[in-house]
Amino acid sequence: MSKRRLFVTTALPYANGHFHIGHIMEYIQADVWVRTQRLLGHEVHFVGADDAHGAPIMIAAEKAGKTPQQFVADIAAGRAAYLDGFHIRFDNWHSTDAPENHELAQAIYRALQAAGLIERRTIEQFYDPVKGMFLPDRYIKGQCPRCGAPDQYGDACEACGAVYTPTELRNPYSALSGATPELRQSEHFFFKLSDPRCVQFLEEWTSAPGRLQPEVVNKIREWFAKDKDGRGGLGDWDISRDAPYFGIEIPDAPGKYFYVWLDAPIGYLASLKNHFDKGQAANHWHAPSRTTQTFEEFVADPAVEQIHFIGKDITYFHTLFWPAMLHFSGRKTPTHVFVHGFITVSGEKMSKSRGTGIDPLRYLRLGLNPEWLRYYLAAKLNPRVEDVDFNPDDFVARVNSDLIGKYVNIASRAAGFITRRFEGRLGAVSPDGEALLDALQTALPAVAELWAEREYGKAVREVMALADRVNAYVDQNKPWELAKQPELAARLHDVCTTCLEAFRILTAMLKPVLPATAERVEAFLRCAPLDFANAAQPLGAGHAIAPYEHLMQRVDPKLLEALFEPPAPAAAPDAATPAAEGAPQPGGEAIAPTITIDDFAKVDLRIARIVACERVEGSTKLLRLTLDVGEGRTRNVFSGIASAYAPEQLIGKLTVLVANLAPRKMKFGVSEGMVLAASHADGQAHPGLFILEPHAGAEPGMRVR
Ligand code: 2FM
Ligand code: ZN
Repeated sequence: MSKRRLFVTTALPYANGHFHIGHIMEYIQADVWVRTQRLLGHEVHFVGADDAHGAPIMIAAEKAGKTPQQFVADIAAGRAAYLDGFHIRFDNWHSTDAPENHELAQAIYRALQAAGLIERRTIEQFYDPVKGMFLPDRYIKGQCPRCGAPDQYGDACEACGAVYTPTELRNPYSALSGATPELRQSEHFFFKLSDPRCVQFLEEWTSAPGRLQPEVVNKIREWFAKDKDGRGGLGDWDISRDAPYFGIEIPDAPGKYFYVWLDAPIGYLASLKNHFDKGQAANHWHAPSRTTQTFEEFVADPAVEQIHFIGKDITYFHTLFWPAMLHFSGRKTPTHVFVHGFITVSGEKMSKSRGTGIDPLRYLRLGLNPEWLRYYLAAKLNPRVEDVDFNPDDFVARVNSDLIGKYVNIASRAAGFITRRFEGRLGAVSPDGEALLDALQTALPAVAELWAEREYGKAVREVMALADRVNAYVDQNKPWELAKQPELAARLHDVCTTCLEAFRILTAMLKPVLPATAERVEAFLRCAPLDFANAAQPLGAGHAIAPYEHLMQRVDPKLLEALFEPPAPAAAPDAATPAAEGAPQPGGEAIAPTITIDDFAKVDLRIARIVACERVEGSTKLLRLTLDVGEGRTRNVFSGIASAYAPEQLIGKLTVLVANLAPRKMKFGVSEGMVLAASHADGQAHPGLFILEPHAGAEPGMRVR
């Protein structure tokens, strides 16, 4: 087998927030793949970096009273806790604001310019005269041109779904200063993707067999397609932004910067270069990669495979802009872009900025084992662009029944006998045991292949099916019965040895997902670090093992409840809120921390008519409300007010609904919003629940603001 040379990346996270579970899922997926390649003996360089540039980070830094450099450095300082915590082992972590990236981005740009693919054009854009800057679309707000809803973003209306350009907004204002923006002209730089050379190259590149997943290729075909009037197809790409901007200066163009998405993927190369230039000794994430080449030699080597793991939302950048940038600057293009879906939690989509109900650090702090999550996600992943759902009950069931019940159980059932009865030494394996071990050894390359094909779910199922066979062997031979009969000691020795040899092979199979457990197993079995080749070698009769120590706990479902408990109310209210002891506690609780009018505007409150109301079978707390919010359909909402109201008291009444709350899947059906009700924080001492009702004249659908 020839040794592969691999350069592997995950998408570079924006440095304006900590990792959420979506990042962790992607990194685990890539880390499992990278570990697989290493266990197969291949050379891998696995790098990441912070995506440091762009207007949102510049603005967030200003709000935080920091320079953008300090701001991103502070975020970067928090990365290791997540990566180390989940055993995600990058060889290098860098930043797109590092000198390597400035140099590479400018060099690539110059090459594109020399190839005649950069064009300057004057465009009109909104300018904030107070802030003295051009405004990105998301910082322009105003009234929706279609439905008139106030405070809508510059690209789409959250109330009616209309899509438009910022210049179409009525009464536009800057979300940064509140000022009325002015239309001003500015010269922008464009990458001419519509150039026939680019179109031809990308058509060929994207359709190379096996390079991209079939569903990704189909999506790209849609992007290429032109309508019957010849409109659509690949448009030129605006790659410049005007000062002030946190980014990389465009050569020979004072006051112009690269748009963040131009230099972001170049950050892959910058991190790799930094990794090479440092040499592995300087690497703080103990990388086993070895190389004697320079960065430029490595990336030019036709044998090197360049592989990017990304989420489906950034496919366009990675399968069109990025290969074109590389190709027309005379560089090698990616070998594969592996696209994955999103993670949902109990069926709910997560927000890119707020994440989900699972906070990765909270997971770790609660003492949940990172390998449980690695295993659970692996069990659900496949090579297609499908979303993965995290379901707490499923998580508990899988980890406990598979990892503990099937896998760890094999060692814990056999090890004690070897230690107590046979001085910790393995014995000889007889033919029935050999047959079982043969089957496992034969399956080993196939399991390795499944990991390498990113068929993680299939790999997990295959390993568990093999574990089932080993457990069936244990049940047939009943070592606990053999142990009672001194004349069967040799058979006991044989059976327990077979179990531990089998356990070693299963451990090697699971090692990409369970690296820490595998290390503990290696210490317990006193064997060399397992890989996919040496795992076929038996330890052999006479081999001494260490006393068994429990390898993994069962998941306590209470831990998952704790993981999803809403965070405790913020303890430190701001200066306007009385917090001193003995301070008034209206309604039994301090006033929540101050929010801005923009925060409040996110909550869409509407008048709703309760057209029907009934008890929910199987619940003492819930009423099922059918609400008319003037949408031409009704909504189904579950409300925990059964203790306070009989259904017939509510039918026909008006109330207030949180209309833009993400739908929530409950045991009894989907709840499409929440009705407002007042209660005291101490329901025992001050019982009562009172739903809101508007004054006469309000009509269903009216917004409450
Ligand atoms: O979508 C994102 O989070 C981007 N920061 C990803 C960049 S990937 C690469 F191009 F750097
Ligand atoms: Zn609208």
